[in-house]
Amino acid sequence: MQVVVPSSRQFRRLLPKLAEVYELAYRDLPEYAEARPGEVEGYLNWLYRGDPKGFFVVFEDSRPVAFAAVHGEWYDWRGDLMAELHELVVHPDYQGRGIGRKLLELAEEYARQAGRDKLDLWVGERNERAIRLYEKFGFKRVGQWRIWVRMVKDLTNPQQAGPGSG
Ligand SMILES: CC(C)(COP(=O)(O)OP(=O)(O)OC[C@H]1O[C@@H](n2cnc3c(N)ncnc32)[C@H](O)[C@@H]1OP(=O)(O)O)[C@@H](O)C(=O)NCCC(=O)NCCS
Repeated sequence: MQVVVPSSRQFRRLLPKLAEVYELAYRDLPEYAEARPGEVEGYLNWLYRGDPKGFFVVFEDSRPVAFAAVHGEWYDWRGDLMAELHELVVHPDYQGRGIGRKLLELAEEYARQAGRDKLDLWVGERNERAIRLYEKFGFKRVGQWRIWVRMVKDLTNPQQAGPGSG
C-alpha cells in the first residue's frame, strides 16, 4: 500500500480513476452517494480544491484503489471550527484489508496537525459497515439529520481509541 497526496496536476490525471472507484464503492449504497453518475468528477474536484493537502490516495500495484478527503478548516452551521472528513472510499475489491482504517489514521493525524480538536463526519444511517469502523476508531454519534448520522471524534480526549487501537 502506497499513500500519495497528489499535486494538482496528478489529481487531474487521477480524476477519472478516482470517480470509477467512487461509483463502484457506492454501487450498493446509492442513497448515500453525494454525487450521481456524471457529477462525480465535479464533486471530487470540489473535495480536492477545498483542501488539497487533506486529500489522500491509496495505491496498490500502481492503481488508485481508495481515497479520503479531509478539510482541515471547516465551519459547521453553528460556526464551530473543526476538521471535516467529507469522504472515505475503498474499491470493493480492496475492502476488508485495513485500507479504510489506514485512511482514518491519516485523516486524524492531518486534523491534529491542523490544530483541530474535533474530527467530524456524516454517515448514512444504514451504512453499518462504515458506522462500525468509525465507532471502533473512537467516533461517537452526536446527532442525526434526515438519513445522516453525525459522528465526532474528540481529539483532545486521550481516553478515546486512537490509531492502532480498536
Ligand atoms: C466503509 C469503508 C470505507 C471501509 O473500508 P475498508 O478498507 O473495507 O475498511 P477496513 O478494511 O479498514 O476495515 C475496518 C472495519 O470495517 C469493517 N469491515 C471490514 N470488512 C468488512 C466486511 N467484509 N463486512 C463487514 N464489515 C467489515 C470491520 O468493522 C473492520 O474492522 P476490523 O478490521 O477490526 O474487523 C468501505 O467499506 C467503503 O468504501 N464503503 C463504501 C463507501 C462508504 O460507505 N464510505 C463511508 C462514507 S461516510
